[in-house]
Amino acid sequence: MKHRSEFEKVVYDGKFRILISEEKIEKRLRELGKQITEDYRDKNPIMIGVLNGGFIFMADIVRHVEIDLEVDFIKISSYGNATTSSGEVKMLKDINAEVSGRHILVVEDIVDTGLSIRFLEKKFLELEPASLKFVSFLLKKDNARVEYNIDYVGFEIPNEFVVGYGLDHKQILRNLPAIYVMD
Ligand code: IMP
Repeated sequence: MKHRSEFEKVVYDGKFRILISEEKIEKRLRELGKQITEDYRDKNPIMIGVLNGGFIFMADIVRHVEIDLEVDFIKISSYGNATTSSGEVKMLKDINAEVSGRHILVVEDIVDTGLSIRFLEKKFLELEPASLKFVSFLLKKDNARVEYNIDYVGFEIPNEFVVGYGLDHKQILRNLPAIYVMD
């Protein structure tokens, strides 16, 4: 039997269920971009993308925000290669920007247990920014283990493992253009 890549299995064999289509993503990006543009006018924010999962959403959302802004990236890890959170968040790469007194908007791919958000909130608040807000492309509200607040949410989704649009399973499938559910 011909070898099929995981990508082919998802897209061509229909092994995974599509949850959010490219069209829906594009529409929501326009709405979020408009909202962020209005809220941050004249604030010259620093948008901080959370790697690796947030790289596609970050690249897309900044192009829908029509004001001057700066970007930086932080890399954290909580999942390793598993499909559930290890409960421990590690920082793998810090930001370089000077964020004290600046308006910070953190850009996440997905909020699941909320542990990553809590970790990032504590870290950035210690740096005394002028303001700190969070935007997450996806939110699994029913799986929260801690309290958190997300200021802008792309989509609320059920408590299922999803891949695509930056989100991985064992480091692959990030390059799928839509969001799929892995059963
Ligand atoms: P939290 O700390 O439990 O909120 O998890 C946040 C991180 O876990 C995200 O930034 C993702 O990298 C990863 N994650 C959570 N749920 C999923 C999923 O359904 N698919 C892929 N990665 C996920």
